[in-house]
Amino acid sequence: MADRFPMALSLPARYYVDPEYYRAELEWYFGTMWFHAGRAEEIPNRGDYVLREVQGESLIVVRGDRGAIHAYYNVCRHRGTRLCEGSSGSTGSTIRCPYHAWTYDLDGRLIGAPHMERVEGFRPEDYPLARAAVDTWDGLLFLNLGDRPGETLRAQLAGMDDLFRPWGMGDLRAARRVVYDVAANWKLIVHNYSECLHCPGVHPALQKLSHYLSGENEPADDGYLGGRMALRDGIATLSFDGRARRACLLGLDASACRYVYYYAVLPNLLLSLHPDYVMTHTLWPRGVGRTEIVCEWLFHPDAIAAPGFDAEDAVSFWDLTNRQDWHVCEQMQLGLGSRAYRPGPYSHREDLLPAFDRLILERERSHQDGKPATG
Ligand code: FES
Ligand SMILES: [Fe+2]
Repeated sequence: MADRFPMALSLPARYYVDPEYYRAELEWYFGTMWFHAGRAEEIPNRGDYVLREVQGESLIVVRGDRGAIHAYYNVCRHRGTRLCEGSSGSTGSTIRCPYHAWTYDLDGRLIGAPHMERVEGFRPEDYPLARAAVDTWDGLLFLNLGDRPGETLRAQLAGMDDLFRPWGMGDLRAARRVVYDVAANWKLIVHNYSECLHCPGVHPALQKLSHYLSGENEPADDGYLGGRMALRDGIATLSFDGRARRACLLGLDASACRYVYYYAVLPNLLLSLHPDYVMTHTLWPRGVGRTEIVCEWLFHPDAIAAPGFDAEDAVSFWDLTNRQDWHVCEQMQLGLGSRAYRPGPYSHREDLLPAFDRLILERERSHQDGKPATG
C-alpha cells in the first residue's frame, strides 16, 4: 500500500480576515524579522534612495559614502515631518527637511539646524536620524525594524545564501518590474506559491513545461519553504514556448539547469530560480485582505547586453501565471470571509502549507507568551 500521511487542517479564518490579528502579526513578521526590501542596484550612486512603506512606517534606503547602504525612518528630528516624498530619487549629498531645512548627512548626522544656535542645551549630535538595520544578500536588500535585531540576516537565511550562490544573484540585473495589487492576505500568497496541486487547473501553460507532480519539497525550515520542480524533456526554461533564448547562468551545472527552484524566504520574498533568469516577488502587506506584490525579472548583464535581448518570453509567461494565481488567491480570500468556512484537510502534495501554518502558530504563541521567537 502507498505511504499514508496524517491529516492536517488549514487554519481558522481569523488568520486571514481578522484586522486585529493582522495588526499583531505585522509586528511579529515585519517588526522583528529581516524582510526583503528590493535590490541594491536600485540605488547605485551616492545619494540615491528608495522609499519603502511597511508596518505603517516609511523608510529611506539610501546609498551613502564608500558604497554603504543606510536605512532611516522618514521622520525629521525637528518636528517629525517626512523628509522624502518621492518613491525614489536622489537626496543629493545631504538629506534636507522641506519644512525648516534641518539637514542631515548621508550617515544620518544632523549637520544643519537653522536658528537653533541660541537654544540652550541644544546639541546637533543628540538628533541624528533614526536608523533601521539594513543588510544585503547577493544584491537583495533586507531591512529589520527591531530595536536590536535578535539575529543576523545570515542566521535568518539559514544557509540559503550558500545554497543559491551558483545563481550569482548579486551580478544579475532587473530587466523588468510589474507591481500587482492583490485583494488577498499576504500569507495566502505564500501558500499559493508553495504548492503546485493547483497547477493543472489554474496554469495549463505551466503544466506543459513542468509536470505538477515533479515538485520535490525540502523539509521546511524556520526561515524558508521550498523545493524544485523539473522541466519536461525538451524544455529549457519557464517561458511561453519553453525555448532557450539565453545561456544557462554561469555558475549552474547541467543538472541544476533542468530544474526551477522555488523558495519562499520568510516573511516576504518569493524566489524563483530558473536556468537562465531569476524572478523575485516581494510581498508588501497593505491590509488584512490586501497585498502589494512587486515582481522583478533578473538576467545576467551579458544576456541583457546581447543583441536582440528581450525578456518578454519570461515576463509574459509569468505575468499570465501571476494573474492566474492572484485571481485564485482573491477568490480564496472571499471564501474565507464566509460564515460557512471551516478549516479543510490538506493533501500530502501540499506539505509546505501545514509547515508554514505551524510557523504561524509558533510565532503567535511565542509572542503571546511574551517571548518573541528569534528571527
Ligand atoms: S520638521 Fe523638519 S525642519 Fe522642521
Ligand atoms: Fe500558481
